[in-house]
Amino acid sequence: MTDHLKDIDGNPVTPNLPIALLAEITHRCPLACPYCSNPIELTRAAQEMPPEDWARAFRQAADLGVLQVHISGGEPGARRDLAQIVASARDAGLYVNLITSGIGITQARLQELDRAGVDHVQLSLQGIRPDMADRISGHPGSWDKKMQFARWLNEIGFPLTVNAVVHRQNMDRLPDMIALAETLDARRIEVATVQFHGWANLNRAALMPSREQAATARRIVDAARLHLRGRMVIDYVPADHHAAYPKACMGGWGTLGLNIAPDGTVLPCHAAQTIPGLRFDNIRDRPLRDIWVQSQAFNAFRGTDWMPEPCQSCDRKTVDFGGCRCQAMALAGDARATDPVCSKSPLHADLAAKAQADALSTPGDFTYRRMQRGG
Ligand code: SF4
Ligand code: FES
Repeated sequence: MTDHLKDIDGNPVTPNLPIALLAEITHRCPLACPYCSNPIELTRAAQEMPPEDWARAFRQAADLGVLQVHISGGEPGARRDLAQIVASARDAGLYVNLITSGIGITQARLQELDRAGVDHVQLSLQGIRPDMADRISGHPGSWDKKMQFARWLNEIGFPLTVNAVVHRQNMDRLPDMIALAETLDARRIEVATVQFHGWANLNRAALMPSREQAATARRIVDAARLHLRGRMVIDYVPADHHAAYPKACMGGWGTLGLNIAPDGTVLPCHAAQTIPGLRFDNIRDRPLRDIWVQSQAFNAFRGTDWMPEPCQSCDRKTVDFGGCRCQAMALAGDARATDPVCSKSPLHADLAAKAQADALSTPGDFTYRRMQRGG
C-alpha cells in the first residue's frame, strides 16, 4: 500500500477527481431495517460534526470538482440542523440530493428544506403494503408516514427517486414495487438487491434471494424498462452472489466518489473501515484534496497495480476493478483478493452454493437494527 499513486518511473500521479460525495451526517435512525449496511459500531450523536465543519467540507469538495452531494445517514432528518447543512451545501454550489426514510420530517420542515436548497429527494420504501413495509422496517406506522411524505413531496414539486432494497422476502413483489413508484410520480426507481455489509450480514439467511428469484427479477426489470421508457428510469443493482461477475463497487476505489462519516472520517466507501490496515483521515484535520490525492487509504486500491491474479491478467480489470474490496475482506479474509462473487475466484463455487442454501432455508426472524435515539 502506497502513500501516493506513482507512475512507472516512480513519479507521483494525480488521480481522477471525484464527482460525488456521500455525506452521512448522522447514524441515528428511527427505522430498524435488518439490511442496514451501516457499520456495526455506529457514531454517537455527540461525535457528529457540527454544521460549520460540514460547510467547510462541502466547500472543499466543490473545489475538488465534486458536483453533487448525497445527504444521507442513518436518517438525516434526525438532525435538527439539517436545513442549515443543506443550505451550506447549496452555497458551495453542489447539487443536493436528500436520501431519507421520510420518517420524522414534517411538512413544514420539508418546505424549509426546499427553501434551503434540496434539489432532489430519494425516498426509501420497504414494501408495497402497510403490513410488509412496517414489518421489514421494524417501525409500526411507517407505511402511512411514508405515503404522507410522498404526497408532500409532490405538492412541493420535488423530483423523486424511490429506493427499494429487494431480498428474498419481497423480491417476488417487484412488479408491484415498480407500479407503486409510478403511482407516486417518481422519475426514477433504484432497485438494489440487498448487499451484505454491516448489519445486513447478521440477516444473511433471512434476506438472501435464490438464483431463480434473481433471474426473475432481471427479466422483470428488463421488461419494465421497455414498458416505462420515457416515463420512469429503473436503476438496478442485481444479486451479485448469483452473477458471473462482480459490480464495479464505487465505480472503482478512489475514482469517482467518496464518503464522509458522521464524525468527519473520510472514506473511500461506506464499509472501508472493515478493512484492517487502512489509515483514514478526518476532514477536520486535513484538507480534502490532500486526503483524496495522497492518503494511504485512498491509494490502497487505486488503479490496477495492486491486483493479484486472476484479476491482474483479466480483461475485465478496468471494467469492475476486481469487484468490492469490502466484500473480498468479508468473504475471503483478504481485501486484495478477487471478489469471491466473481466466477473466476476459487471461492466462488462454494459461495454460490452457500447463498443458494441460505435462500432456500426456512427464513428465521429478522435481527432488527435498534439504535440509540439520542446517541
Ligand atoms: Fe473482475 Fe477480477 Fe473477476 Fe476479472 S477476475 S471479472 S477483474 S473480479
Ligand atoms: Fe467498500 Fe465495495 S463497499 S469497496
